[in-house]
Amino acid sequence: MSTQVVLPQQSESAIAISLIQKTITQTINDLIGKLPDPQLLTISERLWIIARYSSVLEGNFIYWMTATLIATKSEAARPIILDNLYEETRDAHPHMMRKFAIAAHAFPTDYDALAVHVDLTSMRLFLGRLSGVQSLLTMAFFEGFIQKFMPFLASLAAAEGSMEMEYTDVHGVCDIAHTEGLYRALENEMSVNPLGNDANIFEGANCLRTLIDRIVYYRPEVATPSH
Ligand SMILES: [Fe+2]
Repeated sequence: MSTQVVLPQQSESAIAISLIQKTITQTINDLIGKLPDPQLLTISERLWIIARYSSVLEGNFIYWMTATLIATKSEAARPIILDNLYEETRDAHPHMMRKFAIAAHAFPTDYDALAVHVDLTSMRLFLGRLSGVQSLLTMAFFEGFIQKFMPFLASLAAAEGSMEMEYTDVHGVCDIAHTEGLYRALENEMSVNPLGNDANIFEGANCLRTLIDRIVYYRPEVATPSH
């Protein structure tokens, strides 16, 4: 009599999510792996990165998560997004972000805002299309990236003598749970409100990656007045 090995059954959507998550995790690891050594950057380069990151995050994270909530049709996904928004609002994460930038002497100027203007606008217009699956995937990527980016961001501020680390401390921990929640929400949304066959599920994530590259690697040709 032969013994048959029974493999655990996985649904098609669970397999799809695990492949998507693997691709996004790899993208995040690539981005983090090629970050410059903070000690090899000039003071201006360190301040520009903090200022541009802050310029994007402070006023847009809650807006983009709200856009994702509006785009999402799955009833099971909505409480996961609302929980995220609840924490952002109750704990005043934009205030934490601003405190971090001010303490590092990197509060964004109009130059910093304009340096990310084109790529930020692309993200705003993309999320304005209200595509549930693509928006959820983009925000899962963003949460995962932010969590792994925190040690780098903290080291930029520390190099400028700042000890205000509430923003980086909080986001290095809480976003692990948020990221997992968003992948669960994505799986629900894919079953209720699937993306058309001709759409690229990674379109928003690609947009966001371009914006992140701009934050980290853009170097103005002339020195900006305040940094
Ligand atoms: Fe946050």
